[in-house]
Amino acid sequence: MHKSPEFVVNIIKNFWIPGQKILEIGCGPAFLRKVFGKDYIGTDITDRPYSKDLLRDVDLVCPSDKLFLKDNSIDVVVVKSALYLFPNHESTLKEILRVLKLNGKLLIFDYNRRTQKELMRKEGHTNYPCWTQWGLKKLIKINGFKNVALLLAEDKQPCGFERCYKLLRNEYYGTWAIVCGTK
Ligand SMILES: C[S@@+](CC[C@H](N)C(=O)[O-])C[C@H]1O[C@@H](n2cnc3c(N)ncnc32)[C@H](O)[C@@H]1O
Repeated sequence: MHKSPEFVVNIIKNFWIPGQKILEIGCGPAFLRKVFGKDYIGTDITDRPYSKDLLRDVDLVCPSDKLFLKDNSIDVVVVKSALYLFPNHESTLKEILRVLKLNGKLLIFDYNRRTQKELMRKEGHTNYPCWTQWGLKKLIKINGFKNVALLLAEDKQPCGFERCYKLLRNEYYGTWAIVCGTK
């Protein structure tokens, strides 16, 4: 875990204009800060280092569903490799809607069912949500976001048959469940 994959940065850049405030919830080492500089704010439930070689770099220590931020103050919210770890998805999504400006964007880079099951086996956990890409999309939609869509872990999003085929292949052989939406 030393930087964010390039596709993550490139997808975020497609949803963000320089100068807009970007918030990462569950930021950990805040690798995205290097890319987004002063426009970036990172929150996490803790600022304790993971290890002596890997620190957390947190602006605000707060749980995902009680952000110390004003209403309608953020342009883009990113949650990467973290939503599946949060205990409270509904209240987190409600909190994200509160801090986002109208038409502000949400980008969730999470893990699909296959990957979460593998992580549970490796890490000895039993309670990851194990959503499919479509299950995560539904969760975002029923919690009040508009224009909710699945994305692929690629810089340029394919369309039509290629997109359907790649989404299906990703569910069974890939890693990610990536969803975007707007307030
Ligand atoms: C796997 S790390 C991902 C870090 C970073 N987003 C990345 O991709 O490099 C997950 C982070 O979520 C944080 N986290 C877990 N539960 C949380 C919660 N309820 N509220 C806020 N952050 C939380 C953890 O402390 C951890 O730093």
